[in-house]
Amino acid sequence: SSSKYIQYHGLLLPSAAHSMESLEFAQNFSVEDSDVFAVTYPKSGTIWMQEILPLLLNGGDLTPIHTIPNWDRAPWLEETRLAVVVDQLPSPRALVSHLPYHLMPPSFLASKAKVIYVMRNPKDVVVSSYYFHQMAGFLHDPGTFEEFMEKFLEGRVLFGKWTDHVKSWKHTELGDRIMYITYEEMVQDLPAALRRMSDFLGRNLSEEVIQKIAENCSFKTMKTNTMSNFSLIPKGLMDDNKSPFLRKGVVGDWKNHFTSEQLTRFKSVISKELENESFSLPWS
Ligand code: PPS
Repeated sequence: SSSKYIQYHGLLLPSAAHSMESLEFAQNFSVEDSDVFAVTYPKSGTIWMQEILPLLLNGGDLTPIHTIPNWDRAPWLEETRLAVVVDQLPSPRALVSHLPYHLMPPSFLASKAKVIYVMRNPKDVVVSSYYFHQMAGFLHDPGTFEEFMEKFLEGRVLFGKWTDHVKSWKHTELGDRIMYITYEEMVQDLPAALRRMSDFLGRNLSEEVIQKIAENCSFKTMKTNTMSNFSLIPKGLMDDNKSPFLRKGVVGDWKNHFTSEQLTRFKSVISKELENESFSLPWS
């Protein structure tokens, strides 16, 4: 039913975790200079960053990832949960968001808060999202992969079009407050990715701490961590018998799902929407 979603500035958001009140709370949120945001289009590495950020910010103390569910340790700016836990967040605070740049609160723009924007190959994003829609009881059934891909390309999906999201975050006035990283880079060499993030955040972490964070934020470790694998969520909301949230965690699973016609269509839509852009992306 349509009550599964709310509309916000033309974007579809799941009403299971969002309300007009939570969006107003986000708009009025007082961002602090020390806040760190991980911003993503859905299915691009959000919960991975909810694991990573608190550890980078606390010097590798594993307590938060062993005692606090991911949605409370680095809450979503736009979700209802933020108002409940905001007073319990340690400083510096870690937050995540799927909002496009122009919907970030005024206090964010006025602050010195830093942003790590994580991008993922949209072909793998659509596959990950397709499985997520099968397991998440609070979302519409995705239909066939073909049907879901069309919805994705038209932006009739959560948080709108992938290209709009990327464009919005590629054109900011944030200067050196924003760092871009790809999911693929994180998969390929997590310690190197962590070093880059740590430098960006002005942390001075030893190689030993970087290695410790990498081990504890691996796909394997997260999959068995009840504070990170969504097993605390009732089956009616997320059924990991249908498909686990931590599903595969690999690069290139799209090759197992796209027909050659779908690949041609997908590539042509995405490249057309990015053709006049000054930036280029590592995927064709
Ligand atoms: S959401 O719903 O937007 O918060 O989802 P998000 O967390 O952005 O994306 C989920 C995908 O990220 C994968 N993931 C990881 N991959 C590699 N390593 C680690 N540690 C990791 N943690 C999460 C997760 O498996 C989903 O991708 P797929 O391709 O479906 O496996």
